[in-house]
Amino acid sequence: MLVQLLFQIIFLFLPIISLPISKPNCLSSCGNVSIPFPFGIGSNCYLNDSFAVDCMYDHKPFLRSINLEVLNITIPDLAIRVNHPVLNSCLSNESTLLENTPYLFSDRNRFASVACDNFAILSSNNSSLCGCLSICDESQSFEMGNCFGVKCCQTTIPTKLKSYKTSYNMLKQRQKCKYAFLVDLDLFSTSNISAEDVQISNKSQFY
Ligand SMILES: *[C@@H]1O[C@H](CO)[C@@H](O)[C@H](O)[C@H]1NC(C)=O
Ligand SMILES: *[C@@H]1O[C@H](CO)[C@@H](O)[C@H](O)[C@H]1NC(C)=O
Ligand SMILES: *[C@@H]1O[C@H](CO)[C@@H](O)[C@H](O)[C@H]1NC(C)=O
Ligand SMILES: *[C@@H]1O[C@H](CO)[C@@H](O)[C@H](O)[C@H]1NC(C)=O
Ligand SMILES: *[C@@H]1O[C@H](CO)[C@@H](O)[C@H](O)[C@H]1NC(C)=O
Ligand SMILES: *[C@@H]1O[C@H](CO)[C@@H](O)[C@H](O)[C@H]1NC(C)=O
Ligand SMILES: *[C@@H]1O[C@H](CO)[C@@H](O)[C@H](O)[C@H]1NC(C)=O
Ligand SMILES: *[C@@H]1O[C@H](CO)[C@@H](O)[C@H](O)[C@H]1NC(C)=O
Repeated sequence: MLVQLLFQIIFLFLPIISLPISKPNCLSSCGNVSIPFPFGIGSNCYLNDSFAVDCMYDHKPFLRSINLEVLNITIPDLAIRVNHPVLNSCLSNESTLLENTPYLFSDRNRFASVACDNFAILSSNNSSLCGCLSICDESQSFEMGNCFGVKCCQTTIPTKLKSYKTSYNMLKQRQKCKYAFLVDLDLFSTSNISAEDVQISNKSQFY
């Protein structure tokens, strides 16, 4: 449950005609998630393929064009919240690509990294865009609400981001796998996630 929170990031979709409800004769929700137009479940229910939602057998909605689980759609903000895997330097340093979609990574997200004595960098299109430094002090415990440079660091991100890569510059040779993720700003203050939870989240195939 806690681990799942870690993956929550917000995409914005480009402003287009949208309604606070589903099209007539279309499913209005999947599990606990409302699916308003331009999103839709089933042919003729969504505006175009970018907004097609599949309601899986376990009542979890997936956005077909990017294959990520949808957690919430907020039409007034043109925002959708999705589960996105934590990037683990031992497995992958590359985010989901939004280049051919109407989506952007919202700047309501923060870029965060869980690592020791490391400078984590977010880059896109071969340019470094932001980064943060985390040191480690064995005596200090860490939780998400306390992500200020010890075991965990965070920073704001540029607007209009469509994809990103992470890279890591170790100050000392320490642990092998390092972690980075975008996370909804609100979750920093409301969740209590430990560094260990992030490492467990290695099992990123949560869905
Ligand atoms: C819907 O919400 C209820 C109450 O929060 C929860 O118990 C249930 O598991 C949720 N169902 C799905 C499919 O997420
Ligand atoms: C979705 O977001 C809206 C607006 O932020 C909020 O009121 C609602 O509780 C959220 N629903 C879920 C299932 O998180
Ligand atoms: C769907 O419509 C939106 C808004 O007009 C557009 O940005 C997007 O490229 C379209 N997607 C497809 C697959 O045509
Ligand atoms: C990527 O970088 C190249 C060269 O710096 C630039 O011409 C191009 O417009 C950039 N593309 C995007 C999508 O930012
Ligand atoms: C980044 O640079 C490498 C090597 O110069 C090049 O092969 C690659 O296509 C570039 N990527 C982008 C997104 O511009
Ligand atoms: C991720 O980047 C780090 C250095 O920045 C590198 O050591 C590691 O091998 C990369 N991981 C993958 C899966 O490419
Ligand atoms: C967060 O979790 C840690 C360890 O589980 C605990 O010691 C700490 O009191 C918790 N903090 C809050 C604000 O709940
Ligand atoms: C993460 O997963 C990979 C591949 O499944 C595994 O080799 C690695 O040991 C795991 N790391 C941790 C910290 O569990």
